[in-house]
Amino acid sequence: MGHWPTLLVIAASLVLSNIGSISATPRLVCYFNSGASLRKGDGQFTVENIDPFLCTHLIFVSGIFNSIVSKGEPGSLDPTVKKFVLLKSKNPKLKLMLSVGSWIDFQSAQYTENVMGSNRANFAHSAAQFLARYGFDGLDFSWPWDFASPANDPKQFVRVLTALKDAFKSSGYLLSVAVTANQSISELSYDFPKIEALVDFVNLKSYNMTDISKSMADHHAPLYTRKWETSGVGSNNVDSVVSYWINKGVSISKLNVGIPFFGKSWTLSSDAYNPPAKALGPGPAGPLTNTQGELAFYEICRHVRVEKDFKAVRSESRLNGPIAYSLRTPGRIWVGYDDVDMVIHKGKYILSKNLGGAVVWDISMDDFRNTCGSGINPLLASLSRTLKVIGQNAELYVSASPDVSPHFILANMTITMLLLIFYSRRMYYL
Ligand SMILES: *[C@@H]1O[C@H](CO)[C@@H](O)[C@H](O)[C@H]1NC(C)=O
Ligand SMILES: *[C@@H]1O[C@H](CO)[C@@H](O)[C@H](O)[C@H]1NC(C)=O
Repeated sequence: MGHWPTLLVIAASLVLSNIGSISATPRLVCYFNSGASLRKGDGQFTVENIDPFLCTHLIFVSGIFNSIVSKGEPGSLDPTVKKFVLLKSKNPKLKLMLSVGSWIDFQSAQYTENVMGSNRANFAHSAAQFLARYGFDGLDFSWPWDFASPANDPKQFVRVLTALKDAFKSSGYLLSVAVTANQSISELSYDFPKIEALVDFVNLKSYNMTDISKSMADHHAPLYTRKWETSGVGSNNVDSVVSYWINKGVSISKLNVGIPFFGKSWTLSSDAYNPPAKALGPGPAGPLTNTQGELAFYEICRHVRVEKDFKAVRSESRLNGPIAYSLRTPGRIWVGYDDVDMVIHKGKYILSKNLGGAVVWDISMDDFRNTCGSGINPLLASLSRTLKVIGQNAELYVSASPDVSPHFILANMTITMLLLIFYSRRMYYL
């Protein structure tokens, strides 16, 4: 009997520590490029290929802008959108968002008129109606300011966000922004305190940071400055982008670090492969993703692990992810990318800095068919485990089960123990 108070205190503190850790669990925001459903053969990635338990947020990308403006149905995309929102019935904790403002949207006259012009309140209202009609939880505003231009007006950007925030007030929809990693462009384009006040989180596009038209092959998403970089060039990495946004006063808990599931490729002009490597131009398009200078992770791992016509080299200090180069020369192909090891390393970086989480571009480029033999979705699953998103979903399975057999209780206790071990390891990173 005398032990009861002690036991109660222990039990209560266990519950509290669990709650405390859960509320601090990072986000894992996953972009779903709906255009990937048009890829051929093994490249085709549809809603059916999405595992609803690996991410905390899923963002549907592209093709919806015009139907928001016209208040119409999204045409041929309608069945895809309907299937996408049904993922929530599999995992009720999942947040489903819609991305608006890609390059395709941005270049249309409709966009200028409705988003950047005086129609923006109407646009925001239509967007809220669209989210409600399909059952989305929020909107990711992706203004593609990836170049410097006098048109990058911080006031205009804030006006659009304000209109969206106002339109979302009654429903409480989430609002996020996807922003460039380029700091000189950011300096011209963003009003940081206002963005901080208006959005739930910021998706830092801390990848694609190299220019494939330049005759220099380099990793497109380094974590830190590399030894060979001179000052000035050295701002082109994840840690520098993160520090920049923190220094601008944006809450660390709102910042999601962009992690690529693709590599950037070049054709080299010599056999020397150490970055920066001399290049003739962008590498050839991949057989399934069909884009010059870019390869999906599954196209890269096929070369390295299945066909073995590429050799991968990992940087020991992990200042950047691996590079892989074709063994065939001349005309050596070179690609810089993030593998499982690097994705876990970046996940630990996010935990150590107590950042909001990760955002991945995009889940259709992971090895979702296990063509390379490391399991299904090796990048996403590793990141999800590192950020403890998978652990949370296991807990969801248990509490959703009506079964109260001794096995269930035992399983529950085991899971609680595992969670505690996970969380205490998490503390270690902090
Ligand atoms: C950032 O953008 C500016 C202007 O477009 C460009 O000159 C510069 O090279 C970019 N920086 C990086 C690191 O890509
Ligand atoms: C990378 O940037 C280029 C423009 O510099 C753009 O065309 C391409 O779509 C971007 N890729 C990704 C995956 O964001």
